[in-house]
Amino acid sequence: MRIAMIGSGYVGLVSGACFADFGHDVVCIDKAAEKIEALKNNRIPIFEPGLDALVKSNVDAGRLSFTTDLAEPVAAADVVFIAVGTPSRRGDGHADLSYVYGAAREIARAIKGFTVVVTKSTVPVGTGDEVERIIREENPEADVAVVSNPEFLREGAAIGDFKRPDRIVVGIEDERAREPMTEVYRPLYLNQAPLLFTSRRTSELIKYAANAFLAMKITFINEIADLCEHVGADVQQVARGIGLDNRIGSKFLHAGPGYGGSCFPKDTLALVKTAQDYASPIRLIETTVSINDQRKRAMARKVIQAVGGDARGKTIAVLGLTFKPNTDDMRDAPSLSIIQALQDAGAVIRAYDPEGMEPAKAMLSGVSYGTSAYDVAEGADAVVIVTEWDVFRALDFPRLKSIVKAPVFVDLRNVYPREEVERHGFAFTGVGRATKPAAGGA
Ligand code: UDX
Repeated sequence: MRIAMIGSGYVGLVSGACFADFGHDVVCIDKAAEKIEALKNNRIPIFEPGLDALVKSNVDAGRLSFTTDLAEPVAAADVVFIAVGTPSRRGDGHADLSYVYGAAREIARAIKGFTVVVTKSTVPVGTGDEVERIIREENPEADVAVVSNPEFLREGAAIGDFKRPDRIVVGIEDERAREPMTEVYRPLYLNQAPLLFTSRRTSELIKYAANAFLAMKITFINEIADLCEHVGADVQQVARGIGLDNRIGSKFLHAGPGYGGSCFPKDTLALVKTAQDYASPIRLIETTVSINDQRKRAMARKVIQAVGGDARGKTIAVLGLTFKPNTDDMRDAPSLSIIQALQDAGAVIRAYDPEGMEPAKAMLSGVSYGTSAYDVAEGADAVVIVTEWDVFRALDFPRLKSIVKAPVFVDLRNVYPREEVERHGFAFTGVGRATKPAAGGA
C-alpha cells in the first residue's frame, strides 16, 4: 500500500515508521521545513524509545521518506492519514480543528483516483463528516472514503503499542474503505489484534470514551488514596485488592500526583465540551477534570506539610519533571503546577529530569537545574519524586542522607516502600499510604 502521512509529530511519525516497517510505502509530510530537514538527516525531533532505529532502518530500506509538499505523495497514495495536532482551543477547551480542516482542503486539491482519507488525530464526534464535506466542497470530483481510525498509543511505549494493540478501531461510512483499511493493518490482523469496524461517529467517540474512562480510573484511585491517608489504609493494597477482580482490572490504578500529558487533559476537556454542546453532560468526567486540576496543588501542600508547614526559604529537590517517564513531554505535567505552587509558598526549587529539562526551561521560571538526583539534593530541605524515572528507583539513600540538609523524602509516585526510606533515617510521605488514621476521623 502507498501511504501519505500528513503531520510528522508524535502520532504521525510513530505510525508512519511502523506502517513502513510492515512493508508499506510511506511518505511522512510536515509543513515545518526544519523538522523535515532533521528527519531527512536521521534526527528525530521527539524522544521515543526505539523510534530512531525504526526510522533509520525503514529509510535505508527505501520504504519511508519525508517531504514538506503533500501534492505528490497524496496523488500517489491509496490511503492518506491526517495526523496533525488538535490542541485545546484557548478559552473554551474545544479541540482546535483548524489544522485538520486545513489538511483536508489541501488533500482535496491533490487527490487522484479513489483514495481513503483517514483521520488519525483525536477529533470530536462529527469531524469526519466535516472533513468529507470540505473535501467535496473543495474538489467535487474527488473520489474519497473518509474514515476515522483513532490511535491509542502511549508515549514511551508507542512502538510496542502500535505493533501489539489491544484493538484497532476503524469507523467507516463507505464500504469501499473496508478492504484498504484491512490491508493497511494486515500484519496486525494476522497477529490477531481485533479489527473493529464501526460507524464513523462511533469510532470517534470510542477514542474519547476510552481516554476519559482511563482518566476517571486514575482519578478514582487518587481519591481513594486521599481517603486511605485519613482512615489509615494503604492504597497500593487497595488497588491490588480491587484490580484482581477481572471486571475492574489492575491497570491504571496507580495513585499519584494526577494525570497529565498530551491526551488525557485535552481529551477529557473536549469530551466535556462536546457533551455539553449536545445537552447531554457527562458529569463524571466534568468532576474528574476538576478533581485532577485541584490535585496538583494539593500535592504541593503535601510537600509543604512534609517540610513542617512553612516552605519559605526551603530548598526543594524535585526529581522528575515530565508528565511520566520515558518521554521529554512536559505538556500538562503535574510538576508544572506543583512547582508553581511551591514557589508561591516561598520555596526554592532545584530540579533534575533525564529528558525534560530543556522543554521545562521554557515553561518554568526561577527553577535551577542540576545534573543528577544527588546534585539537586545537595543541601535540600526535602527530596520529592514527581516522575518515576528508572534512575530514581534505586536511589543511594545513605549518600542522599549525607548530602541533604534535612532528611525529608516525599514520594508522589509510590516508588519506595515507607519502611525502606525510614530505615535510612528519612521522614517519609507517600500517596495514600498511611500507617495510622489521620487525626480528626471517626
Ligand atoms: C494516553 C493513553 O494511555 C493512550 O491510549 C492515548 O492514546 C494517549 O493518552 P499517554 O498520555 O502517553 O497515553 O500516557 P499514559 O501512560 O496513559 O499516562 C497518562 C497520565 O496518567 C500520566 O501522567 C501518568 O503518570 C498518569 N497515570 C497513569 C497515573 O497517574 N496512574 C496510572 O495508573 C496510570
